[in-house]
Amino acid sequence: MGRRLEGKVAIVTGASSGVGWQSALRLAEAGVKVCVTARRQEALEMLVTTIRGRGGEAIAVACDVTDMAQVQQVVAECVRAFGRIDLLVNDAGVQSYGYFEDLPFEQIVRIFDVNAFGPMRMARAVLPHLRAQGSGHIINVASMLSKGAAPLLSAYTASKHAMYGWAETLRLELYTTGIDVSSVLVPSVATGMFDHAPTLLGLAPQPVPPTYDPDVAARAVVKAARTGKSTLVPVLLQGRLLLWAQALARPVADAIMGRFGARMQMGNEPVSRREGNLFQPVPQGIGAHGTGRVKPTPPWKRGLLSVALAGLVGGAAAAVGAGGYGVARWALR
Ligand SMILES: NC(=O)c1ccc[n+]([C@@H]2O[C@H](COP(=O)([O-])OP(=O)(O)OC[C@H]3O[C@@H](n4cnc5c(N)ncnc54)[C@H](OP(=O)(O)O)[C@@H]3O)[C@@H](O)[C@H]2O)c1
Repeated sequence: MGRRLEGKVAIVTGASSGVGWQSALRLAEAGVKVCVTARRQEALEMLVTTIRGRGGEAIAVACDVTDMAQVQQVVAECVRAFGRIDLLVNDAGVQSYGYFEDLPFEQIVRIFDVNAFGPMRMARAVLPHLRAQGSGHIINVASMLSKGAAPLLSAYTASKHAMYGWAETLRLELYTTGIDVSSVLVPSVATGMFDHAPTLLGLAPQPVPPTYDPDVAARAVVKAARTGKSTLVPVLLQGRLLLWAQALARPVADAIMGRFGARMQMGNEPVSRREGNLFQPVPQGIGAHGTGRVKPTPPWKRGLLSVALAGLVGGAAAAVGAGGYGVARWALR
């Protein structure tokens, strides 16, 4: 189905945990040779061992995506090992929980440096190779927060909007070159991110519900690689339905997130973690699911929520439709 991936070569950033880890596994399973990178060397080595144990090909090169020299090194090592680069998966990302007025400014800058400028550095280093080949694909692990918004995550949300805007522009600039750019708008997924993200709130952070397994995002990354589609929204409930709700029932969506959005993202366990993994990596939370503290929402609950949200969107659409009909009748009178 779609483009053949066997024998292609990918660099996957953010591969020491969560979506990046799982995406590297899924790509390797599809026959892609992967160069995995992040700051935590030992975690990368574990991933490489897992991939090789399943018959895949992988190398690990540690790198901080805020450092251009380290980024260039990853690309050089990948080309040295595998001879080319076909796919760049920009997954590395960080977030920090707190009200905008309280967030230390250096945290805001750092979040942009990793989430928005990191992918740009990676792309700058990879693009000369893709241009020389006349083919290639940059896949960005973006977020539903690349379009919407959530309280407590102002810097993260802004950086993810920036990432998406940059990707869309780059896609147009590369339109005739044989190089594709895709963005995956990932919903809340149960990774270690919520165990190592800083918080100024003193309570363990948790994702906006419903939460999915990170494999949902990893499979969307592989689908992007196979199809070259510009924007992928992998799920219905915290995906296409949510985008429709934001478009058709904006006041209701705003009222829910404005009143309850902050509380939704705070668990009950006290936690003191002002810097988390923002500036330095932390030992915990490796692998696809991290420590496993955050669990995916059970499918039956997601089903019920889908029905409720579909009802809201349908009601809003009916109201808009009825309003439009009324206006049209009035205009024609
Ligand atoms: N979890 C969600 O609900 C969710 C929702 C939407 C979108 N996403 C996006 O999915 C991506 C992965 O997130 P995740 O949930 O899988 O979280 P995660 O487990 O914390 O993974 C983040 C990855 O980024 C790496 N990283 C952080 N800072 C880095 C830096 N300066 N240089 C290089 N690598 C760095 C981390 O590894 P090291 O610490 O080893 O460097 C880790 O491998 C992010 O872009 C995130 O925005 C997540």
